[in-house]
Amino acid sequence: MNMDYINKKLQEMLSEHRYQHSLGTAIEAKKLAERYHSDQDKAYLAGLLHDCAKSLSKEQMKELLNDEGYSEEFLSCKTVMHAPAGEKLAEREFEITDADILHSIRYHCYGKEDMSLLEKIIYVADKIEPSRQYNGIDELRKLAYENLDKALLVFISHSIKTLTEQNRYLYENTIRAKKYYDDMVENKGKL
Ligand SMILES: [Fe+2]
Ligand SMILES: [Fe+2]
Repeated sequence: MNMDYINKKLQEMLSEHRYQHSLGTAIEAKKLAERYHSDQDKAYLAGLLHDCAKSLSKEQMKELLNDEGYSEEFLSCKTVMHAPAGEKLAEREFEITDADILHSIRYHCYGKEDMSLLEKIIYVADKIEPSRQYNGIDELRKLAYENLDKALLVFISHSIKTLTEQNRYLYENTIRAKKYYDDMVENKGKL
């Protein structure tokens, strides 16, 4: 499947705003891949497709997930569901077969323990792509290019804080991811 076709199809599936965010994420992911010596084409494609399921209805997302053992709470939250539903859609509609690309779409929203380099790149690129605007983004962009694990931990921690404060659903993967990267800092001094 060529890139023109993918772009056209994605543009039809997403709002203009979400499409621009996807393009921005693709560009940022490619730059991060260059910085961290990862496959730039894969990073671009994963960034482009990471939110491909974002405009689907809850029912469509659930159908794509096809009862894979997710909890009822998970299946009532579009914000988390769009990520694994996006993985399925990327496979079905965009013929993506690369497991690392598919997993980076699945985990871009809630993370997990011991993420692959591409998974971390997509998670972080989504948060710092050029159209994102929030307080402190310049420092976080800088951090992302200095220490990807540290940037990842900042975003995961922030996500937990925000969801908890707003009394919103927090998927256990995110908590486990924070513990994993916290422990890495404490015990191994890797970050
Ligand atoms: Fe997303
Ligand atoms: Fe996104």
